Amino acid sequence: MRQPLSSPTRSHEPATLILGDKSYLLPVIEGSEGERAIDISKLRDQTGHITLDQGYGNTGSCESAITFIDGEKGILRYRGIPIEQFAHGATFIEVALLLILGHLPTDAEYDAFSKDLTRFAYLDEGMKHQFEGFPRTAPPMAILSAMINSMSCFHPELYELEDEAQFLIAAARLISKVRSIAAYAYRHSRGVPYIYPDPKLRYVPNFLHMMFSQPYDQYVCSDLINRAMNLILILHADHEQNCSTSTVRMVGSSGANLFASCAAGVCALWGPLHGGANVEVLEMLDKIHQGNMTPEEYVKLAKDKDSKVRLMGFGHRVYKSFDPRAQILQKVAEELVPQLCGSDPLLEIARRLEDIARSDPYFIDRNLYPNVDFYSGIILRAIGIPVNMFTVMFSIGRLPGWIAQWWEQNHTPGTRIARPRQVYVGNRQKDYLPKDQRG
Ligand code: SDX
Repeated sequence: MRQPLSSPTRSHEPATLILGDKSYLLPVIEGSEGERAIDISKLRDQTGHITLDQGYGNTGSCESAITFIDGEKGILRYRGIPIEQFAHGATFIEVALLLILGHLPTDAEYDAFSKDLTRFAYLDEGMKHQFEGFPRTAPPMAILSAMINSMSCFHPELYELEDEAQFLIAAARLISKVRSIAAYAYRHSRGVPYIYPDPKLRYVPNFLHMMFSQPYDQYVCSDLINRAMNLILILHADHEQNCSTSTVRMVGSSGANLFASCAAGVCALWGPLHGGANVEVLEMLDKIHQGNMTPEEYVKLAKDKDSKVRLMGFGHRVYKSFDPRAQILQKVAEELVPQLCGSDPLLEIARRLEDIARSDPYFIDRNLYPNVDFYSGIILRAIGIPVNMFTVMFSIGRLPGWIAQWWEQNHTPGTRIARPRQVYVGNRQKDYLPKDQRG
């Protein structure tokens, strides 16, 4: 699995930076898909200057071989494979192993990992008392982040991952138990008994069993739902250096263990501009459905800067044409929703919002298109996942990506603790004043 990053080619044309009467040559590197970067790792030493890039829209934090995105062309590939090709029968665990191992798993690799997922699905009984300590109304993302760290306390041997075998054990524990934590959080919020994992069930059916079975009535996952949920998790599995993945890398760069780094990723994903957007989309659609306003009125509001309202599920930092995941999820929604719940007014409203926005110069001029969150919630809702669990579902999907990125960073030569600079704009030097001399 250890694939040394294919070091990017250094193009022969360095960049020339002219500052005052001096000029500096900066190396230019080129990735395997031809994107180029100016290497500024020696900039401050050479010039005494740093760069400033709010939100890092123009700044590469690392070299990575895991996921490739071309935002202009709407391309997303995991380890070189276009995501569209996973829509025909791949399983989430197969794609998780592709991201983590760097290649599609052999039968032996898949079976070994699946056995570990089954073995590790149980939570230590001690953790049940921790769930009881949360209020029934606790946000599931707060519980998820806390319980990922808590779970690691029962496996201190995985704080230091010496080799790939141990790393795969830690990965299997995380990917398996994240389902149980999510399901237990849901059961606790409803005051119903926890349902233990069923070793006979595969990944998704076992999760939905723990979520929706009753002690007297086992939930049975249909093929349709199994396929849809696997695809949703696959489409969320990684997305290069997004906010939560960058958080996992940032925390991991200090030497923090895999569990603490992923728990931090959960916290970053929670934000409404990031993974929390799938909840905001449903609330937006529901607000329109309740008759508070028409789709046209909502779009008008989203265009008004003073309203602070955004068309949730639209826009993306990288995709400036279309989010390929949204295109696939729209098809899944159109196929699944009618079969599961007949007509869905929220899907109608989503279609209407997309039609309006796609012909509105405000959105066209800003390259704002539906992103992964625009349709995912409609599908999750049709499956029966409660809205406040949507971002937890995003976390379950993104976990393999976080794990793969954390491991890649820890095995990239030259990795240093992440510590950005700043431009200080505060007070110049001043003196301390005793209380009786303060204004
Ligand atoms: C995810 O990074 C990733 O890869 C994330 C993700 C992943 O898989 O990890 O893809 C998952 O987080 C998807 C995005 C989910 N978030 C939302 O759907 C929230 C709504 N979208 C936005 O808030 C926004 O589009 C972002 C946060 C997604 C991107 O923000 P940027 O790149 O910082 O863009 P911006 O805020 O600078 O907006 C540029 C312009 C602004 O207008 P002007 O100042 O130029 O006039 O576009 C406008 C914005 O006001 N704009 C929107 C809008 N998104 C941007 N206007 C109305 N509605 C929107 N949704």
